[in-house]
Amino acid sequence: MSVTNGAPAPLLRLEGVNTYYGQMHILQDVDLEVGEGELVCLLGGNASGKSTTLKTILGVVPPRSGKVVLAGEDVTRYSTAKRIERGLAIVPENRRLFGPMTVLENLELGAYLRPRADLKEDLERVYEIFPHVAARRKQLAGTLSGGEQQMVAMGRALMARPKLLLMDEPSMGLAPILVERSFEIIKQVHSAGVALLVVEQNANVSLSIADRGYVLSTGRVVLEGRASELIRHEELRKAYLGR
Ligand SMILES: Nc1ncnc2c1ncn2[C@@H]1O[C@H](COP(=O)(O)OP(=O)(O)OP(=O)(O)O)[C@@H](O)[C@H]1O
Ligand SMILES: [Mg+2]
Repeated sequence: MSVTNGAPAPLLRLEGVNTYYGQMHILQDVDLEVGEGELVCLLGGNASGKSTTLKTILGVVPPRSGKVVLAGEDVTRYSTAKRIERGLAIVPENRRLFGPMTVLENLELGAYLRPRADLKEDLERVYEIFPHVAARRKQLAGTLSGGEQQMVAMGRALMARPKLLLMDEPSMGLAPILVERSFEIIKQVHSAGVALLVVEQNANVSLSIADRGYVLSTGRVVLEGRASELIRHEELRKAYLGR
């Protein structure tokens, strides 16, 4: 890892990123960082470019200009597969589990890049974080409740032992009690040393567990800072998050 001014390079850095869909300029000069083991939330209203930011990081939509740097390595022109090999994992919007497969089979899919010999250990680690998932391992994923699916989706991503876990709106479609539970789990994963970039519209709950946050509005970072400071920006939250 490269070192500048004695400080370690961040795990993830976006530098002056501009991302387009055809002629549509979505992300505009986005700079963003996630440090080792840090929990960062990316906030913004509908269509502000949150999912596009994750797609840019994953290389699903490469930026037209700017850089994506992962653990000191410029991955801007890397394929998604190569980025995943470098330690990225995602829990996508709406979980996207394979419904006709069991919980265990879904978890195993998350480990496809890991040595086969480590599978048992990886599974035990996930079951330790989510004992409830262990109890449901033979159940078809499509028959799980929303909250259970969220746990399996996180478990599946953790099976790859990622350095950085990307999450797209984990609270979406969950009842308030499950939102709380879901964020407790995110906190737990963070405590285990995994860095996270969590996309959310629910500013209160995500800022309450995050180290830092960024706010996007029409593809630009309009606000960034310590979560403890952002949570007090009532006016800004109203302006940019529509609540
Ligand atoms: N594949 C695509 N082709 C064209 N435009 C797209 C595509 N995907 C997204 N967009 C547009 O880019 C803009 C940003 O979308 P994005 O999905 O990043 O927003 P978001 O902040 O994740 O919103 P939400 O909270 O509703 O999920 C939107 O105006 C959207 O219509
Ligand atoms: Mg989105």
